[in-house]
Amino acid sequence: MEQNRYKGKILVVDDEEGIREICKEALRDNGYDVIVAEDGEQAAKILNSVDDIDIVLSDLNMPKMDGMALIEYINKFNLDVGLIVMTGFGTIETAVEVMKKGALDFIPKPFYLSHLLFKIEQALDRRKEKKRRERLNKLVRILKLNKDLNAKIELQSLLNEFLFHVERTFSPDGAVIFLSTNGTFSAQRISGVFKKQTHLLGEIKGVVDYIARSLKSVIFIPGKLEDIELSSKGILNNFEYQLLATPLIAKSGLIGIVLLVRKKENMPFNEEDLQLLTVFASQTAAIIENSKLYGRVVEINREIIRSLAKAVEAKDSYTKGHSDQVARYAVKLGRRLKLSSNELDNLYWAGIVHDVGKIGIPDSILNKPGKLTQEEFDLMKQHPVIGREILSEVDSLKPILPVMYHHHERIDGKGYPDGIKDEQIPFLSKIISVVDAYDAMTSDRAYRKAMDIKKAVEILEQGSGTQWSEDLVKEWISILKKEKKI
Ligand SMILES: [Fe+2]
Repeated sequence: MEQNRYKGKILVVDDEEGIREICKEALRDNGYDVIVAEDGEQAAKILNSVDDIDIVLSDLNMPKMDGMALIEYINKFNLDVGLIVMTGFGTIETAVEVMKKGALDFIPKPFYLSHLLFKIEQALDRRKEKKRRERLNKLVRILKLNKDLNAKIELQSLLNEFLFHVERTFSPDGAVIFLSTNGTFSAQRISGVFKKQTHLLGEIKGVVDYIARSLKSVIFIPGKLEDIELSSKGILNNFEYQLLATPLIAKSGLIGIVLLVRKKENMPFNEEDLQLLTVFASQTAAIIENSKLYGRVVEINREIIRSLAKAVEAKDSYTKGHSDQVARYAVKLGRRLKLSSNELDNLYWAGIVHDVGKIGIPDSILNKPGKLTQEEFDLMKQHPVIGREILSEVDSLKPILPVMYHHHERIDGKGYPDGIKDEQIPFLSKIISVVDAYDAMTSDRAYRKAMDIKKAVEILEQGSGTQWSEDLVKEWISILKKEKKI
């Protein structure tokens, strides 16, 4: 029968047996599971041991523990139940007070059973709505965390941001973020009680080791919710705080652990807290890993490469700023050809590093005022090969290695180092080749003054189709015309 379907679990609390029985019968007939208690104290005990109660329907005036004390108890332990109070004559004011403390509703005695059933249904609907809002609120917090973390590239500010969000969301009395270096965990951030009572860090060491081994999350409430696995190992045996901890797992595996504690007498941690902390942790782990891998390695490597390029220029006093200029010109030509942003990025870095291999060429050759001998020229031709050797050490530069390596190839196959022809030469190399030659001709060199732009364009046109790509030379010249350089 439809009306016998399970609708929820109700705890009826009243010191009058008659009322308890009437309520019990009516609610059971309408598909609810019912538990009864004679007073607040008994109700509190039941609430402690039965965790899926939806609604507490309680009288106000009762011996031992009254309705007011019951709502205070529910609030103190942050119990996930809704409270409806039944008010007798002269207790309306108290009922209003109880509502202010968070009761869902009140129902004056005596009442029709249909009224009671209606109130219960309404309260259950309100609870559903409240839970939906809470979930939404969590989602908003998660998205906000993500946004704030992504705005931080640097690891230290990332950790600060993470700690800030954790503290605001979970109000712990203390928090620690551990990061792992080669399997050893060190506390990167500590707050609250961990700052004042440093011995606590020693007391949670067992938990850190346990999580590092098992990759499991831990929720611990002294005397109430204790992990069997932990206590069988003697971990947290005399720990005086509630504890919530979860591993930070990224693609590369375990990178850290976040651990929160709350004083025993404060609101208890629950499974939902743990779930939310786990989501926080997985997001943060991914971003920390990106920051460590991508941010650090790429940025540092690129700084090294930049300074390498600068070091080459320092060897040759006449090529100062050449690599920067080639990079800028190459991107300009690439833009005109509507290349993707990824290709433009590759072009830029290929421009910066194209002559890095000159670091291995003797200064006497680089700075020689006159024409190079065949032997010297053969040595000079090694610079793309040396460049490839240097840059192959940097993973993030892999895509631009061939671009750099082939920047002296010619369309007719008479270039170096491989002597490959037009369609075999990487497209981006052909772009570098044109703008490299143009910048070399239009700036001062060891053996000559800068050529004027018209003369340089003439030379480009002469070599178009043999040394350089015809189309690219055309495009480059039209850029110069548009900029009124010629
Ligand atoms: Fe070069």
